[in-house]
Amino acid sequence: MGNRHDAELIERGSLCMVQSQEMNVTVKLGDRSYDIVIEPGALKKLPALMADCGLHARKGLVITDANVGALYATATGLSFPAATIPAGEESKSQATLFHLYDEAIRAGLDRKSIIVALGGGVVGDLGGYAAASFMRGLKYVQVPTSLLAMVDSAVGGKTGINLPQGKNLIGAFHQPSLVVCDLDVLKTLPPRELRAGLAEVIKYGIIYDAEFFAYIEANIDRALALDAEVMAHMVARSCAIKADVVSQDETETGLRAILNFGHTLGHAIEAVAGYGNYLHGEAIAIGMVFAVRLSGLPADQQARIETLFTRTGLPVKAPELKWDDLRRAMSVDKKSESGLPKFVLAKEIGRVEYGIPVDEAALAKAYTSLLASVPE
Ligand SMILES: NC(=O)c1ccc[n+]([C@@H]2O[C@H](COP(=O)([O-])OP(=O)(O)OC[C@H]3O[C@@H](n4cnc5c(N)ncnc54)[C@H](O)[C@@H]3O)[C@@H](O)[C@H]2O)c1
Ligand SMILES: [Zn+2]
Repeated sequence: MGNRHDAELIERGSLCMVQSQEMNVTVKLGDRSYDIVIEPGALKKLPALMADCGLHARKGLVITDANVGALYATATGLSFPAATIPAGEESKSQATLFHLYDEAIRAGLDRKSIIVALGGGVVGDLGGYAAASFMRGLKYVQVPTSLLAMVDSAVGGKTGINLPQGKNLIGAFHQPSLVVCDLDVLKTLPPRELRAGLAEVIKYGIIYDAEFFAYIEANIDRALALDAEVMAHMVARSCAIKADVVSQDETETGLRAILNFGHTLGHAIEAVAGYGNYLHGEAIAIGMVFAVRLSGLPADQQARIETLFTRTGLPVKAPELKWDDLRRAMSVDKKSESGLPKFVLAKEIGRVEYGIPVDEAALAKAYTSLLASVPE
């Protein structure tokens, strides 16, 4: 896939690999740069991959959840003990975090030890924050096992936990030292989780790369069937785009905001429907359709986007949720001085602008048009 970003983004033969792989991506952040290894079967090579990157700690802790741990904890071949937390968003909590500190003490971790986060975004965010905070910060390795974690949460260094008052209210930027995506583990991921991860993949096409969007359109059925070549390209291209954005704006003072495309309404849908009723990817699919309507893209481009979400098996509206409730939740999510959220809007497929104020009437109109004209 040649396109205008490839040359800068996908570095072949990157930072610390003995054997460079076609699909590897580097997140360029000066002396905190790191590799993302994307390869079927990579899990088995984890100790060797870590050694190649100079991660030789004598002591370490693998953090995983009950689902992923049962399937893959022993497959890594690491000699570190594992701390297994219950699967699910509820584990991104103060109680689980402090439980992990206990486990870290029990495992005898010191400042030179390594944490390995083996799981979806919950394990990655929580394990990453444990690594950021324990003894003022340990190195850690992300081993994402959900598609969402591979293409989004494991890359970019945002870590954290939830408070009862809201999601991700405690956190830190703490970049991993290595990210290892074993595409084979996607075979056990529940199909609904796979589709939710594809929502983020499609997002990268809309915000950054029209050619990638067209590739996803042409290959979505193969992706849903977990075709190895298609999955490898989709994960690698998504990671390369996220890496490019993060290396330009690590702490979200500007450009990184484009990764929130569709997320203002998406977060509101998750909150209003009650966490867990919509998966994150499902909620942002609707949020992206809304943002596209708000953007006033030409009808043919809107139709391409909505058709792609539908073909992926993602929802494009939530008719049971009331606009007033969603609107209120949107003000909590992101407030500008006037209390109106600022938006990431699409100029065309492959290009967005961020920090755009939108007036109240336009918001309501876009939501009404969404409910009225998209087929069930
Ligand atoms: N840090 C970031 O930049 C960032 C970005 C996006 C999302 N997030 C966070 O990520 C979290 C969501 O991540 P998620 O969607 O991966 O959820 P998750 O971690 O809850 O994983 C989803 C489910 O799939 C299971 N699972 C994961 N991999 C599996 C596999 N290979 N086989 C079988 N089952 C598997 C898990 O046990 C879980 O039940 C949220 O907390 C969100 O806030 C963070
Ligand atoms: Zn997201």
